[in-house]
Amino acid sequence: MSGAPAPVVILISGRGSNLQAILDETAGAPSLARGPRLGPIGETRAGRLPIEIRAVISNNPEAEGLQHARAAGVPTEVIDHRAYSERAQFDAALMQAIDRHSPRLVILAGFMRILGETFIRHYAGRLINIHPSLLPAFKGLNTHVRALAAGTAQHGASVHFVTNDLDGGPVIVQASVPVRTGDTADTLAARVLHEEHRILPLAIRWFVEGRLSIRNGQVLLDGEIRPEQGLVAVPDQRTEAIK
Ligand code: GRF
Repeated sequence: MSGAPAPVVILISGRGSNLQAILDETAGAPSLARGPRLGPIGETRAGRLPIEIRAVISNNPEAEGLQHARAAGVPTEVIDHRAYSERAQFDAALMQAIDRHSPRLVILAGFMRILGETFIRHYAGRLINIHPSLLPAFKGLNTHVRALAAGTAQHGASVHFVTNDLDGGPVIVQASVPVRTGDTADTLAARVLHEEHRILPLAIRWFVEGRLSIRNGQVLLDGEIRPEQGLVAVPDQRTEAIK
């Protein structure tokens, strides 16, 4: 798909490293997601991510990610959830703020609030999230600690469409990271995060290029129904090198 860059809105709550990965790729920095190692899932294209980030919105006024957006010249807004006594009111304010920008895609990039049904229905099919586990394993919080406690051999990250099933929407793409002897939650998180930074921009690219959609709860890429666990990114040697 060519033409004008697709308008998107990104929601964050904290550090904003996933946001930074998107900003970098939008600015034309070499993509982590490119290169021959992603060949099997069909990603060979080069070039900047064809999006226009109309706004970065945080529920947390202290979110470090807001600085990344500002540094890149992207407008920021704060909708502080603590100013609303009910979740539905917060969701409504957030929807209003988002809709002013008419986004084609809304990206949850480390957004840590649970969103209600009305919100999710309103953005059905154009709302994606990055989650630090190989879904459906380890939905919810503290995924790295839980993965280590469970003694799992493979951990990783998933990008999925958001539905009312918390962290349970159809998976678009996953990247897995072998758990090493001696891993702590921090060392494991660092390698998983590197993979997050590869697969989130990749899924965004697919979406804005018109290649990715959801139909009847299934993920379609290039018109083909994709496996329930999502496409699996080929391991990246650079991730293995992270200490
Ligand atoms: C990431 O691990 C993301 O998957 C999770 O929260 C973390 C946010 O990190 N939902 P960052 O703010 O993008 O650095």
